[in-house]
Amino acid sequence: MNPWVNEAPLVDEVEFSGKWTGFNAWNIMSPELEFCNVAKYVTKSLHDTATIIETGLGQGYVTRRVLSVMKDTQRLITFDHQERWLDMVENVPPSPQFNYELGQPGYLDMVTADFVILDSEPSRRKEELSLWFNHSPPHSMLLVHDTFHDSIEDSDTTRFIKRHNLQGWWFDNPRGSFLGVHGRVKNVL
Ligand SMILES: C[S@@+](CC[C@H](N)C(=O)[O-])C[C@H]1O[C@@H](n2cnc3c(N)ncnc32)[C@H](O)[C@@H]1O
Repeated sequence: MNPWVNEAPLVDEVEFSGKWTGFNAWNIMSPELEFCNVAKYVTKSLHDTATIIETGLGQGYVTRRVLSVMKDTQRLITFDHQERWLDMVENVPPSPQFNYELGQPGYLDMVTADFVILDSEPSRRKEELSLWFNHSPPHSMLLVHDTFHDSIEDSDTTRFIKRHNLQGWWFDNPRGSFLGVHGRVKNVL
């Protein structure tokens, strides 16, 4: 089933992570609905010509919710390294508003980013965070999935956020997430 045509039914996310009840997800790969909604409402608050960069297009659960509130004058570029996820988007008409690209964003993408959503493999997170931290503008917003900040040992993401003293909010969805805003300090890695 192509989720761009029909989304799977939502179930309690505890079925996938085994953590706590009260959050919703579509399958083991998808983020929680609640995480998608944070991405959606931050997008809604952005200025008229904002650029949004997303990693980990996957089945597009985040992407569709971001697109649903975007203005025609805003732009979303989403990345994935697997062609099969890009192929699923075929029924969405091409537009200047929405690009999907194979691979990962580079620093030229980050310098234009008003809002960056990170949901590719957690192993990619440290590199993605460095890219955002070193190249995105001072007002840039960041939403990171899979922070796993309830774990005894800090994940790469948690360590990065603490080390760089990023300002923002931790969310207690089972897989963990963080919403932050860029500080002015650059190149201190
Ligand atoms: C958890 S899924 C993303 C779910 C998606 N955000 C959604 O809403 O359905 C992670 C995605 O990251 C992609 N990915 C994994 N490693 C990657 C890499 N090295 N570069 C780019 N994308 C990668 C995978 O192909 C997969 O689609």
